[in-house]
Amino acid sequence: LVSAAAASATRADQHPYGIAAFNVITLEHAEAIAAGAERAGRPAILQISENAVKFHGGRLTAVAAATAAVARASDAPLSLHLDHVESAALLRAADGEGFSSVMFDASRLSYGANVAATAEAVAWGHARGIWIEAELGKVGGKDGEPPLGAHAPGVRTDPAEAVAYVRDTGVDALAVAVGSSHAMTDRTAALDHDLIGALRRAVPVPLVLHGSSGVPDAEIRQAVAAGMVKINVGTALNTAFTGAVRGCLEADPRLVDPRKYLVPAREAMTGTVAAFLKVIAGEP
Ligand code: G3H
Ligand code: ZN
Repeated sequence: LVSAAAASATRADQHPYGIAAFNVITLEHAEAIAAGAERAGRPAILQISENAVKFHGGRLTAVAAATAAVARASDAPLSLHLDHVESAALLRAADGEGFSSVMFDASRLSYGANVAATAEAVAWGHARGIWIEAELGKVGGKDGEPPLGAHAPGVRTDPAEAVAYVRDTGVDALAVAVGSSHAMTDRTAALDHDLIGALRRAVPVPLVLHGSSGVPDAEIRQAVAAGMVKINVGTALNTAFTGAVRGCLEADPRLVDPRKYLVPAREAMTGTVAAFLKVIAGEP
C-alpha cells in the first residue's frame, strides 16, 4: 500500500495539503472509501478503530485483511491505519497486518503516563516501520466517555506542552483538540483557528483533526490552509449509510435482500467520501 500520509506530510511542508482518513466498520465502508477516492482522484487513508475491531469480535486479521484487499485493488493511492488504539495487545497485533500507521491513544491518562506509554508505542512502531500518531488534549465524544464539551476548560491542546510531548515521545503525527468533537451528526463545530496556527508553527510533525464529521466545510478548508494535515471522518459515513438504509426500508417494508439497501448505502457513503476529499483539496 502507498503511504499516502507520508507523501502528504512531505507536500505539507511545501504548501498546505490535507489528507482525509475515513473510518471502516463494514466491508461496504471500505469499498465506498476506495470508490470515493477514485471518483475524487485523491489519496485517502482507510482507518480501523479499536472499537471497530471489537465490533468484529476482536478479530483484527479478518477486518484488516478485507480492508487491505479492497485498498490494493483500487486505482487510488490508499493506506491503512489503525485508529484509537488503547490496548497494548491490539497495538502489538497490528504487526504484519498491512498498517503503515497506528494512532496510539493514551489521552485518557495523565500527562506523564501518556508520555511514557506513547514513547513505548513509538519505539515499538519505529522498530517495524510503522508511524505512530498520538493525542494530546482531549477531543471529546468518544465511546463510553462522560460528555465533555469541546470548549470545556483545559481540553484544548497547549502549544508549549505539545512541543515537549512530541520531543519526549517521538511521535510522527499529533492529534490535537482545537474545538472539534467525535460523533457529531450536525456540522456545527467551531474550530479555534488561532490555536491551529500556533500549533502548526510550534509542532514539527503533521497535525491531525479528529471528529471532522461535525466541522463545516468552510472550517475544514480554513484548518487545512492553516496547516492541519490529517482529517479524520467517521460519523458522516454512518449518517449517509443509515439514512440510505432507512429510506429503503421505509419505502418497502417487505424488502429482505440486504443488497437492495446496501447498494444505496454504499453509494451514499461514496458520495460523502468524494465530497470530503474535494473540500480538503480546496476544490469548490
Ligand atoms: O478517529 C476518528 C475520527 O476522529 C472520526 O470522528 O466520527 O466524529 O467524524 P467523527
Ligand atoms: Zn478520533
